[in-house]
Amino acid sequence: MDNSVTMDKLVALCKGRGFVFPGSDIYGGLANSWDYGPLGVELKENIRREWWRFFVQESENSVGLDAGILMHPTVWEASGHVGGFQDPLMDCKACKTRHRADHLIEGSSKGKVNADGWPHEQLQTFIDDKKIVCPNCGKRDWTPIRDFKLMFQTSRGVTEDGSSTLYLRPETAQGQFVNFLNVQRSMRLKLPFGIGQVGKAFRNEITPGNFVFRTLEFEQMEHQFFCRAEGSDKHYLQYKKKIWDFYAERLGIDPKNMRYHDHEKLVFYAKAAVDMEYNFCFGWKEINGTHHRGIHDLTQHAKFSGKPQEYIDPITNEKITPAVIESSIGLTRAILVVLHDAYREEKLGDGETRVVLKLKHSIAPYKVAVLPLQKKDLTDKAREVYRSLSKHFMVTYDDTASIGKRYRRQDEIGTPFCVTVDYDTLNDKCVTVRDRDSMKQERVAIDQLVSYFGKKF
Ligand code: GAP
Repeated sequence: MDNSVTMDKLVALCKGRGFVFPGSDIYGGLANSWDYGPLGVELKENIRREWWRFFVQESENSVGLDAGILMHPTVWEASGHVGGFQDPLMDCKACKTRHRADHLIEGSSKGKVNADGWPHEQLQTFIDDKKIVCPNCGKRDWTPIRDFKLMFQTSRGVTEDGSSTLYLRPETAQGQFVNFLNVQRSMRLKLPFGIGQVGKAFRNEITPGNFVFRTLEFEQMEHQFFCRAEGSDKHYLQYKKKIWDFYAERLGIDPKNMRYHDHEKLVFYAKAAVDMEYNFCFGWKEINGTHHRGIHDLTQHAKFSGKPQEYIDPITNEKITPAVIESSIGLTRAILVVLHDAYREEKLGDGETRVVLKLKHSIAPYKVAVLPLQKKDLTDKAREVYRSLSKHFMVTYDDTASIGKRYRRQDEIGTPFCVTVDYDTLNDKCVTVRDRDSMKQERVAIDQLVSYFGKKF
């Protein structure tokens, strides 16, 4: 991790340079909601495209899906979210802060006791016996433990009775599970095969924060790999490696800042689970999950829908409930990973410091910036260069401020190349191309620019 990066600097850069704005900004903001600006949407789209290429396009037997955010409410009973997707919470009556009971235990035992999944009684007894105090104010004045539901609930139609309750999906995964047979049959897929999906998810998080790390509304990129239960461990290990490769190779994240965290404690149906963690300036934190979910999901949906969710082997006619290897990545969290990893403050020869985002070329919002050295005489030529390049690449144009300042601006948003149109251009039909990372410059003929950049990207 580059030691110069802090959350304050990233948030300021994102707002000032059009990546991410506070949600509902002119109304004072809505806590933990964020809007993606012009550069944010480009970056998000580039990460999404890389994921789609890697997990769908280049993965044999993988197809895409875009299921609805609103689903039949029974889906969430079958998935266990209605009954189990909640956190045990306590409020400190003295300082009015809210805490997860299991986190209080973990914190006070310095991580030695993992109370995740304990029943309320056990949590309460432990907290009482150990006289655990509020980590914020040091007092011991707790409300009893209550369950805090993480699913956002809404209602359909004009009445608000229980029959019209709908939920905003807390994960995209259930869309893939309930469409398993639709996809398999319509595409005539044979096991094993995968379904990829990217979309919004919503969670009523009680401890959101750290910019876009944990928010109420976010996006996920999820891939469900359906396979025979026999031999599924091999696929799990393949996906564990694949997700590492995605971050390191496709997003250009420094492997020194990544590590695996294998789960020791598993939910009852899971066969294995591993997170990848990233070394943020606020600590090592989960950035994705790979889960061997066994046959749990399709079995549950068969039970609740009354419709068998079975694959029929075309040769033997054997009926099989496939196991699922899930690979789940937070897209909006990946944006934070990418920006955090790319941020540098570099001392220059003249004593100045430049801020530069060393983004991998493929995910940089703009690939090229076209900069006329002077507005009056060079605009027509520069606009011509801009128009021809923008047919092939995402290009920006800037003719304000000194050329040095314009280079710094492009460095700050991670644009890999700047093209400067100067007076010589009018005679030699060449431009100066400046490389973001090395800051080296070279002359390139205008009619060679498309193939020059084509080779670079
Ligand atoms: N279908 C499995 C699933 O949703 P998860 O571990 O709860 O698993 C997967 O979530 C990923 O989604 C996380 O690793 C994280 O990247 C992202 N994610 C989860 N909750 C989030 C939140 N509140 N804000 C932003 N990203 C979140």
